[in-house]
Amino acid sequence: MAQENKPVIIYGGSFDPPHRGHAALAAAALRQLRPAALYLVPGFRTPFKDYRPVPFADRAAMLKAALSGAGLGGRSEIKISSFEAGLRRVVYTWETVAHFRALHPGAPLYFLMGSDCLAGFSGWRRPGYILKNARLLVGLRPGFSIGRGGATFTALAGRFPEADSTALRAELFLGRRPARLQPGVLEVIGKRKLYLARERALLQGELTPRRYAHSLSVAALALRLAPAAGVPQQKAAAAALLHDCARDLPTAGQLRLAPKRLAASLRSAPVLLHAWAGAALAKKKYGVTDPEILEAIELHITGAPGMGPLARLVYLADVANEGRNFPEAGLIRKLANADFQAAFKAANYVKLVYAFAGGGWVHPLSVGLWNSLQEKKLS
Ligand SMILES: [Fe+2]
Ligand SMILES: [Fe+2]
Repeated sequence: MAQENKPVIIYGGSFDPPHRGHAALAAAALRQLRPAALYLVPGFRTPFKDYRPVPFADRAAMLKAALSGAGLGGRSEIKISSFEAGLRRVVYTWETVAHFRALHPGAPLYFLMGSDCLAGFSGWRRPGYILKNARLLVGLRPGFSIGRGGATFTALAGRFPEADSTALRAELFLGRRPARLQPGVLEVIGKRKLYLARERALLQGELTPRRYAHSLSVAALALRLAPAAGVPQQKAAAAALLHDCARDLPTAGQLRLAPKRLAASLRSAPVLLHAWAGAALAKKKYGVTDPEILEAIELHITGAPGMGPLARLVYLADVANEGRNFPEAGLIRKLANADFQAAFKAANYVKLVYAFAGGGWVHPLSVGLWNSLQEKKLS
């Protein structure tokens, strides 16, 4: 049982998506420790209703592609473990350590991570248990010096570039091909239609190129402002991409989709129809059931008193995205970086000013939103 004396490495992470940084860390750990096993353990990701995160099987397929892209394909000591994902809940690191400790009772156990995680280690659940059973194995990221973090660890030789998974996902939601992902990973994403690729393909078939470009532009701003609006990234992307999904349907088609009770009142401003028709189409064709995404599509033009954070985000991003060339759009964008709520109010103001200046009919929901925002100011 010579194997029992060889190290066993656990490498946990969301791997959503796996990028070159992950592969570099795994390669360095293999070189330095020559372990009996290196377990990659993708964590369970909390689902957001139907817009669920990338399932384990897809992340495992991406991981395999990332490993073979880094020249690690076919290495028998590398295993992808479904331990955390299979429990279908958030799993604490100490539980994962306990699992592999039981599996390899005699082996020196290592827990591999980037140095950015080390800084928060003392805040993890049962750090004492983790350190008693496993040694931390840390790949140093630029700007991090040994000695910080409050726990002893083994450092991997080399420096490992920062790779921000949130930023990578934002690029993927917009259909871009970030260079920090290996070509093989991008191929898996394309084949399995991950990161809303299915939705984008359907949209491209429904919208004119100009409208599709507009949808991407709205999604880009919504993704940038999602943290400020307090909205999960994936929901922001889905709602923003789909907000105009019914915009290029003929009016008759929009009328068929919009609720009958609204169709009559919207004759005064037929352009508003596509918002209600869009919510219905998102449900029917794109399989959206999340009420917050449907609300965001429905209210993206008029707004409404009491609209939720996701609806506010899409409303603002529709008015102020980079593709808008009126001067207020840039000002709202700038303001949103500093104060999202103030920017949202400004978006409502600008829309109403343009509507009144145009002399047309203004939907009561838009006026209602304005009034509700003033009431909040007074209270
Ligand atoms: Fe629209
Ligand atoms: Fe729009």
